[in-house]
Amino acid sequence: MSEETESKVTIEEREDGPLVIKNLPLLENSDGSEVPKRPVMALCRCGASKRKPFCDGSHMAIEFKSAPEDVSDRDKVYTYEGKDLTVYYNKVLCSHAAECSTGLKSVFDPARKPWVDPDLGSVDEVKKIVADCPSGALRFSEPDGPETHLESDDCYIRIEKNGPYHVCNVEIENVRWAKGASQKKFVLCRCGKSGNKPFCDGAHYDVKWKDDETG
Ligand code: SF4
Ligand code: FES
Repeated sequence: MSEETESKVTIEEREDGPLVIKNLPLLENSDGSEVPKRPVMALCRCGASKRKPFCDGSHMAIEFKSAPEDVSDRDKVYTYEGKDLTVYYNKVLCSHAAECSTGLKSVFDPARKPWVDPDLGSVDEVKKIVADCPSGALRFSEPDGPETHLESDDCYIRIEKNGPYHVCNVEIENVRWAKGASQKKFVLCRCGKSGNKPFCDGAHYDVKWKDDETG
């Protein structure tokens, strides 16, 4: 094995089991506290481990199944055209973390139809929200410009309290990418209930999953 392959930062899915992470430089909680890491770690994604974020073998006891459902009917990109900028959104990618609606309610208001109106905020304000969206569900483009997620160059996994893993610049192979997904920033299911595994589809939010409860 070459040195480059050995030091590559990667996520591998274990069938009906955990996510195996190699060479990750930073594993942190959403409050910024660092989680002691190892060169190779198995992270829980069934929701049942008593040693979260690490796997303790509970996936076997609960007979966790990691195969995704058919989400093709939910895998759609919605387009919201504004004067200076167009916003794109794929709901199946959204983890409902609400950075958008809490950060810029004038533009992103889930109670309104359409829920996105790019003209009700400045271009810079909308760009900041797209950059902050952890799942890559949001993108934007300027007239004649490319569609972009505004990804960071940092490399980490952040554990959202009662929510998914936020992944930034870690390679994951052999997965089905939803339309318009970012391969640099995405969210991975930690509760075991997503229909779009290994990605989070917001199911933890719908079932009010708590990561300090097991099973
Ligand atoms: S994941 Fe993105 S689109 Fe979904 S609620 Fe959070 S910021 Fe909004
Ligand atoms: S953590 Fe979001 S669906 Fe499982």
